[in-house]
Amino acid sequence: MTTSSQTSEPTQPILVVGGTGKTGRRVAEHLRRRGLPVRIGSRAADLPFDWEDRSTWAPALQGTSAAYVSFYPDLAVPGAPEAIAAFAAAALAAGTRRLVLLSGRGEEEAQRAESALQASGAEWTIVRCSWFCQNFDESFFAEPLACGELALPVGAVGEPFVDVEDIADVAVAALTEDGHAGRLYELTGPRLLTFADAVAEIAGACGRPIAYVEIGMEDFVAGLAEQEVPSDVAGLLRYLFGEVLDGRNAYVADGVRQALGRAPRDFADFARNAADAGAWSAITEAA
Ligand SMILES: NC(=O)c1ccc[n+]([C@@H]2O[C@H](COP(=O)([O-])OP(=O)(O)OC[C@H]3O[C@@H](n4cnc5c(N)ncnc54)[C@H](OP(=O)(O)O)[C@@H]3O)[C@@H](O)[C@H]2O)c1
Repeated sequence: MTTSSQTSEPTQPILVVGGTGKTGRRVAEHLRRRGLPVRIGSRAADLPFDWEDRSTWAPALQGTSAAYVSFYPDLAVPGAPEAIAAFAAAALAAGTRRLVLLSGRGEEEAQRAESALQASGAEWTIVRCSWFCQNFDESFFAEPLACGELALPVGAVGEPFVDVEDIADVAVAALTEDGHAGRLYELTGPRLLTFADAVAEIAGACGRPIAYVEIGMEDFVAGLAEQEVPSDVAGLLRYLFGEVLDGRNAYVADGVRQALGRAPRDFADFARNAADAGAWSAITEAA
């Protein structure tokens, strides 16, 4: 456990790149709740930030004390390490020394991006995460679950889904406290679940049957095309399901406890809270 202490709170804004996404939205909320100034980094922000347009980076970084960095679409895509190296250089040039990078487990390009940040000279922290619990209610899985069946090309491999609230707690600690610079935290939930286990927990929380069906990769990709999922996103999902979920990540890590001195949130709590909030039933009613 890190005995992190609260330092003097910054008056300069903290840039939250991807600040309207699953993790960044919560990082921004937690910072604001602590009375800290936040600047959202996204294409729709007042001061737009676009990974595809480097001329937007310096204005977004200008005057910030630290940045939370969630890359889009995924650190696993080719070119991500170069983008992170260039972003870190832009941050240092702007005087933004403290950088907290969201990363993924078992992805070659993501690990190269981590190395680029570690070599940049920034005061870095890396949060290397397992699959998010919130993929089930805030992303592509939500609608099929609401309709009663989730079909994916993955079998009995275990994944320790992490609650993005835990990611936000660790990121905010790293952005605002001493003791986290130079640390790579591997963030997972407290137990392994197969996708079938996860769907069973969601079904139990919803109080109605929801099926999990294992399908072949080609059927999965064809289904994404039918749903008009953009081809680059479909390619990424194919990579993630085809390569990353091969058992290499089927272990629990203790990054939440290392960073915060407490246990990570459990999937069952996520499922109950999301079901109570109508995450899956609301979509059913709208369908
Ligand atoms: N999902 C998982 O299980 C998982 C696990 C480990 C790691 N990760 C990592 O999580 C990251 C994604 O984070 P997230 O899930 O919190 O975000 P998210 O929910 O996917 O939201 C995407 C965010 O990025 C912004 N964005 C989209 N295109 C952009 C562009 N061209 N330039 C700048 N910003 C752009 C969006 O805002 P605008 O549309 O307004 O620009 C939004 O704020 C990826 O790097 C992925 O590798 C995900």
